[in-house]
Amino acid sequence: MGVHTYVGRVMQTPTRDQLDTGDRVIVVDEGTIVATHDASSDVAATATAATADVTTIPEGSVLMPGLVDLHIHAPQWPQLGTALDLPLEKWLFEHTFPCEARFADANFARVVYADLVGSLLAHGTTTAVYYSSVHRQATIELARACAAAGQRAFVGRVAMDHPEGTPEWYRDADARSALADSEASIDEVRSVAGPDGIVEPILTPRFGPACTDELLAGMGELAAASGVRVQTHCSESDWQHGYAFERFGMSDTEMLDRFGLLADHTILAHADFVSSADMGLIAGRGAGIAHCPLSNAYFGNAVFPARRALDAGVRVGLGTDIAGGARAGVLQQCHDAVTVSRLLDDGVDASIAADRRGVANSAIDTVTAFWLATAGGAEALGVPVGLLDVGRRFDALVVDLDRRGGAIRYWADIDDDARLFEKIVRLAGPDDISTVWVDGRTVVGN
Ligand code: GUN
Ligand code: FE
Repeated sequence: MGVHTYVGRVMQTPTRDQLDTGDRVIVVDEGTIVATHDASSDVAATATAATADVTTIPEGSVLMPGLVDLHIHAPQWPQLGTALDLPLEKWLFEHTFPCEARFADANFARVVYADLVGSLLAHGTTTAVYYSSVHRQATIELARACAAAGQRAFVGRVAMDHPEGTPEWYRDADARSALADSEASIDEVRSVAGPDGIVEPILTPRFGPACTDELLAGMGELAAASGVRVQTHCSESDWQHGYAFERFGMSDTEMLDRFGLLADHTILAHADFVSSADMGLIAGRGAGIAHCPLSNAYFGNAVFPARRALDAGVRVGLGTDIAGGARAGVLQQCHDAVTVSRLLDDGVDASIAADRRGVANSAIDTVTAFWLATAGGAEALGVPVGLLDVGRRFDALVVDLDRRGGAIRYWADIDDDARLFEKIVRLAGPDDISTVWVDGRTVVGN
């Protein structure tokens, strides 16, 4: 790969309240950013002249860090956009488990996963954190699809053995076999990940209701012994939140901690109902939350208080929750995260007086949303991406302005950097994204 230099207009968010823009020269060595310069500086000219490989981002295009999707169910790709009017339990049993059960067929998995990974890359998702199904072979196919397409990914075989929380036609036979398959899947994912290691395993107990105590305890032990990250669903809805107190006599967060599943860089999906004490526990353990705003509107029964979680020191990023959320891109989740935060702030019932209607200080803006989608998600995972800065891997995308068929219109006299950034975050889709790199490799465009 060697040294490659990129020259262009950069927009990114180093912190959740800071938009950083400017014409830059970015020097990448073997996929790692080793220097960045202001394009107008003398040292930039020297750096550009010194490298044989220079990519100049055209005027009218913007270079941004790649997007991190912290929560995706890969085998739910075929049902994207359907059955979202049901409550979570019904949606799982009547639509989702039947869809996932089809991935017993590894050939079907291969076709679906190639399509999924290609689609997500086109949306600029350079890092994806996947739930696979219970099937080991299909899980290998998912890891292979990511490695082949060059997407940075965490791939988790789903563990679920509870005789009541799962249907008998789609579950692990028992805790012991679930643990054995989860352990074997770690090596299987690694074996197809390729030498650069951008595809990694992640332990995936589905959620409390789908797992026996024996399985939860065993997964905690496996996490500690293997050092592999964990992902699960936490306090997603009224139902899941109440279920934890009924079965375990404590909150979902406390239960996960009790079983050793709340570790550094554990990814908790949703967490709409976590208390302040839960947030303290999550922050203290170094776990993070995948905020899935659109999915929550359907299944969450509440809006996740993203700003309160960030203020409590919790690591937070964004997730599509495909297919609980019906939109595949992380920029769309930025849009939705801003929207639902405003609904939480204002409240939604006009019959209630304005001063009692909402939860004050809940709103987030597009800068915070994009930070969640990039540096925030990267921090939750503990992966050096999410920012075009020294020491990070070069995961990036180019958004074209004024592209025919695209969503963004740029008025040079009117749109300053801040406005243009808002337009990109709120409006850009695959038609506006011309190039995507992961780990210094071109994965979309040429
Ligand atoms: N809880 C357990 N499984 C799932 C799932 O597949 N999607 C969502 N949204 N919540 C879950
Ligand atoms: Fe989910």
